[in-house]
Amino acid sequence: MYSEKVMDHFTNPRNVGELADANAVGEVGNAKCGDIMKMYFKIEGDVITDVRFKTFGCGAAIATSSMATEMIKGRTIQQALQLTNKAVMEALDGLPPVKVHCSVLAEQAVKATLSDYYRRQGIDPVPIVGELHDPDHGEEGGSCGL
Ligand code: FES
Repeated sequence: MYSEKVMDHFTNPRNVGELADANAVGEVGNAKCGDIMKMYFKIEGDVITDVRFKTFGCGAAIATSSMATEMIKGRTIQQALQLTNKAVMEALDGLPPVKVHCSVLAEQAVKATLSDYYRRQGIDPVPIVGELHDPDHGEEGGSCGL
């Protein structure tokens, strides 16, 4: 059911852990499956120079967080804000339809972390990052625990 790339990022996830000198930390969770994703960024100037993540969740959630962190490392904040769950899924050669919401969680984790970066500077992140929304299993018929 998973592509080789998904299996690779699930069994050998990149950028796992915490960053002691992170200046942005974001966490998102899905209320229905209980999966949680936490990301740590080190941002210098407007470049995300280092990234780590911790995901307590399904295989697709781990694979998409791993791929998402690879796709934003070394990129600017603006480039990271343009990262969509679709782009992450394409980079992983697709996900089963019931697992699409897991990639939304990764996209939202990136946005939550950037929101924290702006908040720490006293800047309202909503006009820049947008509203965060909790990916809902209900809309996509998610299956937890796979
Ligand atoms: Fe909930 Fe994948 S994030 S099942």
